Amino acid sequence: MYYPEELIEEIRQKNDIVDVISGYVGLQKKGGNYVCCCPFHSEKTPSFSVNRNRQIYKCFGCGEGGNVVTFVMKYENCTFPEAIKQLADKAGVALPEVEYSEDAKRRETRRQRLLEVNKEAAKFYFYQLRTPHGAKAKEYLDKRQLSDEVRKNFGLGYAPVRGEELLAYLRQKGFSDDLIRDVGLAKMSERGTTTQFWNRVMFPIQDINHRVIGFGGRIMGDADSGPKYLNSPETEIFDKSRNLYGMNYARSARTGNIILCEGYMDVISMHQAGFTQAVASLGTAFTPGQAGLIKKYTRDVLLAYDSDGAGVKAALRAIRILRDAGMSGKIIDMSPYKDPDEFMKNMGKEAFQDRINHAENSFMFEIRILERDFDMNDPEEKTNFHNAIAKKLCEFSEDVERENYIEAVAEKYHIGFDNLRKLVVNTAAKAGGYAVVPERPKSGIQKKNTPEENVKKAQRLLLTWLTDYPQLYHKIKSYITPADFTIELYSKVAERMFSDIVNNSLNPAGIINMFADEKEQSEAASLFTTKLPELESEQEKEKAFHDILLSVKRNSFNYYSERLGVDLSAMSQVIEGKKALEELSKMHISLN
Ligand code: UTP
Ligand code: MN
Repeated sequence: MYYPEELIEEIRQKNDIVDVISGYVGLQKKGGNYVCCCPFHSEKTPSFSVNRNRQIYKCFGCGEGGNVVTFVMKYENCTFPEAIKQLADKAGVALPEVEYSEDAKRRETRRQRLLEVNKEAAKFYFYQLRTPHGAKAKEYLDKRQLSDEVRKNFGLGYAPVRGEELLAYLRQKGFSDDLIRDVGLAKMSERGTTTQFWNRVMFPIQDINHRVIGFGGRIMGDADSGPKYLNSPETEIFDKSRNLYGMNYARSARTGNIILCEGYMDVISMHQAGFTQAVASLGTAFTPGQAGLIKKYTRDVLLAYDSDGAGVKAALRAIRILRDAGMSGKIIDMSPYKDPDEFMKNMGKEAFQDRINHAENSFMFEIRILERDFDMNDPEEKTNFHNAIAKKLCEFSEDVERENYIEAVAEKYHIGFDNLRKLVVNTAAKAGGYAVVPERPKSGIQKKNTPEENVKKAQRLLLTWLTDYPQLYHKIKSYITPADFTIELYSKVAERMFSDIVNNSLNPAGIINMFADEKEQSEAASLFTTKLPELESEQEKEKAFHDILLSVKRNSFNYYSERLGVDLSAMSQVIEGKKALEELSKMHISLN
């Protein structure tokens, strides 16, 4: 059921958040807010706060936050349309009777049909593996030491030599040849309809709801006749860039992390050993869409890629993608084995758990790989290596973070800390036309936030500042644009927020409504409720704001510098960013 945005906004406005929440829990007025013990986690002292002006709530204990609609969804455990319906009834707003359009209905039934074909095909393959025809396939899986349990959980099967058998089975179930072709199980050729898979061990690929959306088929033995794995093509129900093999089990693994592998067999072998948080991409490289899928469950990703050259390259790419998605990646060392499957067979699960515990920080991994390009016995090459390190260290926009990494790198590569630090400052100055000369933190040990977290935090704080001091926007608008917010959700919020400020209609609760996804709503809500540090004097506040603004701009500059040649808009962002940074660093911005 879809309602127009204006209607949803009207319903929200007619339901004051304090009134609605009071209907569920006892609120107490405290300062400008209303507080109570959080209904979403158990606690003894109230950290749940409702703000009438902004029409939002936030729990400082568990992080839950949002507007009146998300509160009802969460409290009643209902969907967005159900919450809207309930609030509309409360406020006496009539909802239009929206019927599913004919078109939408047809699309939905078609999807169902395609999924049914796959389900039946998976059943067919599963059965074939257990007949005498499947003896060779069974033998192959035995040789690879797969337990009955994982064979069943992953629905492994066998596509017989004679493809017609599958076709006959599916036709008899009432599926047309067109449908069988559309789902990628068969092709049209001069011999009529022929099946995509034959004489292969079959790996059904399931989405997070255990629905079979495609297949991978492996030849038994070495790859001499055709590719080792053949996969279903992309179809209406098979989007390779937004699904992950094994995610249907990994999502409920409750390990707090996800292990990203390269292959289907790796995932299965890991699950068999109890690492049910293992997933793999679908015969293609890891994508931002897949990072987004993982991020719904956790931000900690451990890479268990092959230890060969291709695996390292793929890992470096995946690290970038994870970083861009604001997630942290670590690398599991598989040596001396090629991949998790081999490692597990030879070393066992305790040894693997130990490798997990000692996984390498992704930045240190990048530096270690970088080192391979240089001959450390040649003084000139060594200098070049140090310069390359310095350049990479400039990517950190937060001073403390950068200092921590300078320290770690200096120690590992036996470079004097002060020398490396000087090199970084000079490199930054050359690149951006501004000098980063941070004080060295008194204690080398500071709270270790990842660079990604710091970037996010700065962007979040800047938005919070602008919520509290909207008039500041007018002073900085020639220097800052939504594109400077490199986290996609923040950028969307910034865009809307800036236009709201210009129109004099800043409305945080309305901005939260832009997002349909619960997680995104909560994240958007946190933008308006991040606690600003308690600063005494006007000067301190001005300095804090200035620092955050510079930090966001500096990150944006680094972000787009990295994308030169890849992203068409990067060049102008870099040129504009450099100028803005120069001006901003000299500028004084007063809060009034
Ligand atoms: P690997 O060659 O590492 O396969 O390719 P694997 O899963 O470890 O399989 P085994 O252990 O040799 O049986 C990694 C992934 O790349 C895709 C598949 O998704 C595979 O799981 N791939 C590989 C293909 O799609 N086609 C190929 O020909 C090879
Ligand atoms: Mn393998």
